[in-house]
Amino acid sequence: MPGPARFGGGEPSFWWGAATSSYQVEGGNVWSDWYEWEHRQGLEQCGQAVQHYERFAEDFRLAKSLGQNAHRLSLEWGRLEPEAGNWSEEAIAHYHQVFNSLRECGLKICLTLNHFTLPTWLARQGGWECAQAVPYFERYVRRVVTEFGDQVDLWLTINEPLVLATEAYLYGHWPPAVRSRQRMRKVVERLSEAHRAAYRIIHELLSQAQVGLAHNFLSLAPLRVRFVLDQWAAERADWFWNRWLMNLTAGCHDFIGLNYYFHQRARLSLNPRRGWVSFADPKKLGHEVSALGWEVYPEGLDDLLRFSWQRYGLPLYVTENGIAPVSEAQRTNFLERSLAALLRVKEQGVDVRGYFYWSLMDNFEWDKGFSPRFGLVAVDRQSFVRTPRPAAEVYATYCGRDKLKRAGLEV
Ligand code: GCO
Repeated sequence: MPGPARFGGGEPSFWWGAATSSYQVEGGNVWSDWYEWEHRQGLEQCGQAVQHYERFAEDFRLAKSLGQNAHRLSLEWGRLEPEAGNWSEEAIAHYHQVFNSLRECGLKICLTLNHFTLPTWLARQGGWECAQAVPYFERYVRRVVTEFGDQVDLWLTINEPLVLATEAYLYGHWPPAVRSRQRMRKVVERLSEAHRAAYRIIHELLSQAQVGLAHNFLSLAPLRVRFVLDQWAAERADWFWNRWLMNLTAGCHDFIGLNYYFHQRARLSLNPRRGWVSFADPKKLGHEVSALGWEVYPEGLDDLLRFSWQRYGLPLYVTENGIAPVSEAQRTNFLERSLAALLRVKEQGVDVRGYFYWSLMDNFEWDKGFSPRFGLVAVDRQSFVRTPRPAAEVYATYCGRDKLKRAGLEV
């Protein structure tokens, strides 16, 4: 492994950033499966999203003014390749401008190649179940790396393969709305294959590249800690959510990309479709929850970073962590406790090198539309005006160099 990422001046530094994904912020992605899906299902439409396609330069300047030194973003595959094998010169030119603008702001670039959406032409052929899906993905990856490779500091092949596979093929909430354990399993294997292929291609074209994926780790405990069947359920959930995908992609990670949101309490379920495991409703148990009903437990980040470090021995980046809160006080509190956990494990010697808050600004939260507000920056739905929230200012104090020095992160 090369040493920690270096900034101008040669000194090692920690990456402080925020994350977005193309479909959720750009707007106008009419070549993607989700576009058709929203219309067909009568869901709230993404439409112009938050006009990031037009306002990217303003957004990156804002991130920089908020003290951030890195940014995570994704490319929209359907925009780049609106028809199989035909590349949009306009989209290529656009993303060149995007990378240049990030560079001008001095932001390190973490790029996700695929964040949930697929080009419509591929979705019509069966999406990730299509026998050609991996070769199509390989062709896309080759093109992206050839075109933009020299701009990228950190590569994420696929965002949260397990979330995609379960939402789309097990729970049936996302396109193509299948409910089958067997098909879900096949898609997880296919996505793992796609990751391994992309990992090889990126290294073939850029030998020094740092490549991983963003995996949604769950913080887990048995509902009744001494009850052996709940212990069994928690262990099974840990295998499914935390370990399975990492096993399938073993040897194809230069670092671990860790997405963390919430804690789950597992118990035995009598429903085999759920794999004999269910999760208790945290609200009914009297725990603090977010606007989406997720248990607020920022300290889970501490456990997951330590476990991942022990298990994989690879450098870590928190590639997503955030909340759609019930109040701004809850957001700020969540952020501060998460950062405290991060700094604590860092001090204990865990090699964590960066943190990306989800999200830089409010955006389109898939089937839940625009109501969950994940942004450090609020976006007005009519005018698209951006306004930093209190948490953005709090985060800025962590991003600042003085704070870094005090936290002992600067070497
Ligand atoms: C995910 C995705 C994001 C979500 C975020 C909040 O983790 O599901 O990366 O697209 O918007 O996680 O749910």
